[in-house]
Amino acid sequence: PLADAAPEPSASPTWLSPVLSRYWDDPRSWTLETYRRHDGYLALDKALRMDPDQVIGTVKDSGLRGRGGAGFPTGTKWGFIPQERSPQSDPNAQTKDADGPAPKPHFLVVNADESEPGTCKDMPLILATPHALVEGVIIAAYAIRSSRAFIYLRGEVVPVLRRLQAAVVEAYEAGYLGRDILGSGYDLELVVHAGAGAYICGEETALLDSLEGRRGQPRLRPPFPAVAGLYASPTVVNNVESIASVPPIILRGAQWFRSMGSMESPGFTLYSLSGHVARPGQYEAPLGITLRELLEYSGGVRAGHSLKFWTPGGSSTPLFTADHLDVPLDYEHVAAAGSMLGTKALQIFDETTCVVRAVLRWTEFYEHESCGKCTPCREGTYWLVQILERLEAGDGTEADLEKLLDISDSILGKSFCALGDGATSPIISSIKHFRDEYLAHFELGRCPFDPDRSTLHD
Ligand code: NAI
Ligand code: SF4
Repeated sequence: PLADAAPEPSASPTWLSPVLSRYWDDPRSWTLETYRRHDGYLALDKALRMDPDQVIGTVKDSGLRGRGGAGFPTGTKWGFIPQERSPQSDPNAQTKDADGPAPKPHFLVVNADESEPGTCKDMPLILATPHALVEGVIIAAYAIRSSRAFIYLRGEVVPVLRRLQAAVVEAYEAGYLGRDILGSGYDLELVVHAGAGAYICGEETALLDSLEGRRGQPRLRPPFPAVAGLYASPTVVNNVESIASVPPIILRGAQWFRSMGSMESPGFTLYSLSGHVARPGQYEAPLGITLRELLEYSGGVRAGHSLKFWTPGGSSTPLFTADHLDVPLDYEHVAAAGSMLGTKALQIFDETTCVVRAVLRWTEFYEHESCGKCTPCREGTYWLVQILERLEAGDGTEADLEKLLDISDSILGKSFCALGDGATSPIISSIKHFRDEYLAHFELGRCPFDPDRSTLHD
């Protein structure tokens, strides 16, 4: 899965020591048999002998940060869940007793609705090693004292859905799921739920609404899901890669994990490399690697071309240019350089790309996916597309650039969820880095990258 289009690198770099992807290329890597051959479910056995609080403590000590985009510390999130034992996680089973209402059930929900443009790590992970996710789910659910877990998966990716469902069946048959797991007395039911294909359902509270059977739209936070999530009960929502990182941490210890990456951003992670590169694919590396190092290993920008701009964390993060090749790709350094690590989706564009057209395409995506709940995003993304369309076609004016920035300012920090904020990132950053290219469009009266094309829809 690492690549297929370009020559192999001459030597393995020192940072290459894959954990999550180490046997993705094994034949039938997705089966229980292969997973067990690679120490599969040993971490579960170990975790079930620990106290749940010890498991949370280990994950906290490891410094693992959420891999869905925001980088929130995973162990801290688990620690928000009330520590009392949860009743069986059946909302209908709640009863009142003499001392007041019974404690609410706890839920674990895995966000597998990977949809951020350029992000392609969770789907390959599930396709190659679904049991890594299933084992992580069982350990995480045990740690937060939950007896019911859900994986909310993008509905469009049917092969991934089938493979995950097959792995869950295998896990039930082997006694890793269901009642009295490995003789520990711990019970867990795991449900795989296929979404219906809306980007907004990757927002954790919209996902919970969708899982409950409603139209997926974000809820007001706080309360965060840790306080009132699925069925208004304490819920941990974690990304696929975060959960799949838990078994090796339990098995090999927090210090082992901390020996990779940086103090604030420890461990390994999956970067999705796409666009104008010789060998696109998923690259596993310690946090803090640079794009220059990743490009050296992946064969570089496609032959005969040079890097123009790139996204460090998907299209919702401000663009970087060739000046940012040596920025360590961890949460702190990317933020200090003016962007966000986000989903670690490195989309690479060479000098043949019109930045205005690329930004227009992304903005059309946000307009289409805006759920319509709040005015700044619903109306703002519509107007951003209108203005970008005429700018890209060479029919704009310099005042349109100010309008783009003004509308972006009315969305940023004023919309209900992160989708609105994300929509402004490519616009604001592209005007900052490539203002001259925007100006060239209306000075020439056409896209400078496409002399034969005078309007967008020709
Ligand atoms: P956030 O920073 O608001 O929250 C991150 C997590 O920490 C959430 O689970 C939240 O419940 C929890 N949290 C934060 N503060 C808390 C508190 N005080 N108490 C309890 N829990 C707390 O980020 P958000 O809005 O959930 O996600 C935004 C990120 O999602 C963006 O950075 C973007 O990169 C990423 N994203 C990922 C996509 C994908 O396909 N993986 C798609 C779109 C966006
Ligand atoms: Fe919906 Fe956009 Fe508002 Fe988020 S920011 S609630 S996606 S309209």
